[in-house]
Amino acid sequence: MKTLSHLFEQNRNWADGRRQADATFFKKLTRQQAPEYLWIGCSDSRVPANEIVGLPPGELFVHRNVANLVIQSDINCLSTIQYAVEALKVTHIIVCGHYDCGGIQAAMETCSHGLVDNWLGHVRDIARRRRTELDSIPDESRRLERLCEMNIEEQVLNVGRTTPVQAAWARGQPLMVHGWVYHLTNGLLMDLSMSIASDEELRALEDS
Ligand code: CO
Repeated sequence: MKTLSHLFEQNRNWADGRRQADATFFKKLTRQQAPEYLWIGCSDSRVPANEIVGLPPGELFVHRNVANLVIQSDINCLSTIQYAVEALKVTHIIVCGHYDCGGIQAAMETCSHGLVDNWLGHVRDIARRRRTELDSIPDESRRLERLCEMNIEEQVLNVGRTTPVQAAWARGQPLMVHGWVYHLTNGLLMDLSMSIASDEELRALEDS
């Protein structure tokens, strides 16, 4: 007996719909992908990257992990960035976090969550470094929202520090890194207005 048969049925319906809208849809995608954007987002099922920016297959290169982290020793994320920048030549890298992120919440709890606590240690490091500002926010839910924003800010810097992005900027390849946050409550994206397009802008942001 085939398991999860409803998903295969939905898949057939989806593929049929695509073909009806454009008979050459899959044929074109087989030949090439030429996305302009790399999306680095949270694994959260409520933040489906392509869907919330209204982009079809082929137009968004995607990397997702718990709490949208960019860690310099994470070969998975770094390889994705390298391929996106050097092979696909994306012109924009979007780090998109979201409010009500379970990873950010778990990072701030004192109880144990097992293995994932090692990964979320990166978020706890940010909270420790920026504790003065966080402690000045009396409302707990706003404090968690601010930590979501801080985490995105730090990950934009981390993207800028990766070797593929540094190399791209050094050779003059156009590449901009953005920090966005997604509201689960209304489905809207907000630009955190911290985009960087060069090493100079990265350094200026680091000093700010
Ligand atoms: Co999340």
